[in-house]
Amino acid sequence: MRSFSPKLALILGLSTVLFVGCSSATSSNNTANSTAVSDLSKKVDDVQKFVDVQKKSVNPGLGTIMIEYSQRFSKAWYAAQAQNWDLAKYQIVEMREIQETGEVDRPNFANSLKAFEAGFLDPLEKAADNKNMNDFSAAYDKAILGCNSCHAGQKNAEFSNFKFIKIQKPKNPPVDYMDFEGQK
Ligand code: HEC
Repeated sequence: MRSFSPKLALILGLSTVLFVGCSSATSSNNTANSTAVSDLSKKVDDVQKFVDVQKKSVNPGLGTIMIEYSQRFSKAWYAAQAQNWDLAKYQIVEMREIQETGEVDRPNFANSLKAFEAGFLDPLEKAADNKNMNDFSAAYDKAILGCNSCHAGQKNAEFSNFKFIKIQKPKNPPVDYMDFEGQK
């Protein structure tokens, strides 16, 4: 079914009201009416522009999402090192949440993101649930390969792939304001 543009609907609706209401109108009234319609049309355009700007500011692109994604991934590593399994799990759960935003905002990447989640975040979370450092470490290494393989396989209008974004195991904690050991 073809959807009817809300803007067109609004303009047609208003034109009808003006036309019916002023059917005995003089031509100067008609001029006033068409000025009103074009003013309204401009206002609707302004509202649309405003909505577009707002959408951009609340819908971060994948590059912005990836900054949070990778920081949480790194924090998960240091949480696991500190045997703070709840924090490790928490970071993975938060990765899933921010990735959902990516799936909605950038549907082109949704399938690859979902595949990464099932293939790499599930085992990582399971290892955290089981408080198993060996499994966590193995799942972490595999996830890094998963990050990089997605980067190699994706493209956008400017870049034919994202191989230049290569993830490695973190060498330092991403922040120093958190005690990865948590509260005892
Ligand atoms: C859907 C496949 C996909 C997966 C899976 C993926 N990425 Fe990304 N990543 C991208 C794309 C595409 C970009 C570039 C996005 C853009 O700029 O529009 C990107 C960008 C990045 C960036 C650059 C952001 C910056 O400026 O710092 C980092 C870092 C990053 N990803 C980390 C990761 C990490 C860590 C993982 C795994 C835990 C991961 N990515 C998994 C697709 C993916």
